[in-house]
Amino acid sequence: MNKEEFGKSLTTNDDKIFRYLPYLLQDLWELGGHPNIQLELIKKLGLTDIKILDLGCGKGSSLIQILKNQTGQGVGIDIVEEFIEEAKIKTVEWNLDGRIEFRVEDLVQTLKIEKNYDVVLYGIDSDILGTYKECFESLRPVLKNDGYVIVETIYPKHEGDSSLTTQSEFQREVQEAGFTLLEEKFWDIKYIKAMNEESTSKIEKRAQELSSKYPQEEKMFADYITSQIEECNELENDLYCVSVLCQLKS
Ligand SMILES: C[S@@+](CC[C@H](N)C(=O)[O-])C[C@H]1O[C@@H](n2cnc3c(N)ncnc32)[C@H](O)[C@@H]1O
Repeated sequence: MNKEEFGKSLTTNDDKIFRYLPYLLQDLWELGGHPNIQLELIKKLGLTDIKILDLGCGKGSSLIQILKNQTGQGVGIDIVEEFIEEAKIKTVEWNLDGRIEFRVEDLVQTLKIEKNYDVVLYGIDSDILGTYKECFESLRPVLKNDGYVIVETIYPKHEGDSSLTTQSEFQREVQEAGFTLLEEKFWDIKYIKAMNEESTSKIEKRAQELSSKYPQEEKMFADYITSQIEECNELENDLYCVSVLCQLKS
């Protein structure tokens, strides 16, 4: 596992907290994605018996909600065993067993073995696949000809004062990687605020429990909450969150 990039995907740069993440995040099902938009984009494609791959699927919230409303099958990959265990339980609760396979795996390995997907879902929340261009290039081999990618990513609101890749640079890199950008859907700020508020309060409660149990680690848990709050502020004030549908050029 690339520890630094894994940490970024869950808002921490302290690998000592990794083993506590399943506990801290136990009350959340969605870990930062927007399943409703993904479903809306997939529905528009009008595909039947779709085959979907979700890279970094967390606890399966996207794949499960999409396949409840769409014919087909899916594979979900995440590196955290506890997340995959919960995804498997939810699959049974939602009567989707037999249609979704959840696996504990490093998505970098998955990209070397999987093939023939209609749609790949990926939240670009770390640099594990490199630049946007490199990321889209590494998604190509798992797609069918004319297959689709739905990525969730961020653009800086104020392009001049950020080192982040801008919307126009993103669009250029997608093209250069051999994809056509079909649609961008910006997330509603009310949705983002509600998601941030709910997640932060749930994580704070669990961090307090851990601080009481392990007082010597209190600062580590407090720092994690601080980084959560900072990320929420950035998402609400400095960034656009966006889901982007792209199609592989044949
Ligand atoms: C921000 S969460 C998003 C989870 C999910 N897509 C959702 O919306 O609920 C990012 C996920 O990527 C997973 N992840 C990070 N690095 C990974 C890797 N190298 N291979 C597989 N999963 C990884 C994390 O464990 C985490 O569940």
